[in-house]
Amino acid sequence: MSPFLLTRQLPEDATEAALRADVLHGLTKSPKTLPPKWFYDAVGSELFERITELPEYYPTRAEREILVDRAAEIAAATHARTLVELGSGSSEKTRYVIDALTDLHTYVPVDVSESALTQAGHALIEERPGLHVHALIADFTGRLTLPDTPGPRLVAFLGGTIGNLLPAERADFLAGVRALMAPGDALLLGTDLVKDEGVLVRAYDDAAGVTAAFNKNVLAVVNRELGADFDPGAFDHVALWDARNEWIEMRLRSRVAQTVKVPALDLAVDFAAGEELHTEISAKFRKEGVHAELSAAGLEQSHWWTDREGRFALSLSVAR
Ligand code: AVJ
Repeated sequence: MSPFLLTRQLPEDATEAALRADVLHGLTKSPKTLPPKWFYDAVGSELFERITELPEYYPTRAEREILVDRAAEIAAATHARTLVELGSGSSEKTRYVIDALTDLHTYVPVDVSESALTQAGHALIEERPGLHVHALIADFTGRLTLPDTPGPRLVAFLGGTIGNLLPAERADFLAGVRALMAPGDALLLGTDLVKDEGVLVRAYDDAAGVTAAFNKNVLAVVNRELGADFDPGAFDHVALWDARNEWIEMRLRSRVAQTVKVPALDLAVDFAAGEELHTEISAKFRKEGVHAELSAAGLEQSHWWTDREGRFALSLSVAR
């Protein structure tokens, strides 16, 4: 068996069809919305990498600190032989866990980006000969079929990306994750934590304007893929803290009254001056809330680790 396998669980045209459906639905309702998954084309992925290096954007550094400090404990608690990583991207931070898992047989990175999977997979095999890598091109919010590999399994979902889902979507997502697991398998989940509003808002509205460019990039994606004529310069980046829902919201505020055409959908969309297009929520969590959401999905929280400043948490939970 080849140590690197790549399986596509997305039809070739699924991305295009899903984008059309999301744009049609999102731009014809009130308030207008576009889901955050469309940020991540090549330009958007590069901008996200730059965000992770910004002085204001602490989550990536805080999560890395926890992984470095706790990798041995994670390995000892799970003895995982298969590691499944949802939304694996570059797998950069996961390396600490992989290196600590001495009995690891197969790593299953799951991502919609084939190039990220191939790059990360080959780099890993170079450094860990004998490790099987079975990459899945798939949307982690959809139904996955995992390869038949030895247990116990550890499923990792890092970066705080669960916060980009609405509460009901999170419940569906966690139930779907639980369905991939056998009793005793574990979930390693990264969650950003509720903290001072100023710190949170600056993390999503940085002084260098990288997050603003990342937010506006979704307009460039819709222009390229659906022939739309969004002028990114006619929108302002907005990041605000919703204290009731305990989430950050990113929006794009139309500077003027304007009409945007989306030829592929035969659509003309009117924006009033000041009207806001909602592009992302990034929920921030508390320990009790994470515990409750895991529990509702059939997962028992066994460990809760934060970085030294208490900004970000990793939790380990076990399938009942
Ligand atoms: C790491 C994907 C969860 O919500 O913090 C960064 C994405 N959005 N800046 C987050 C993001 C704006 C991010 N995730």
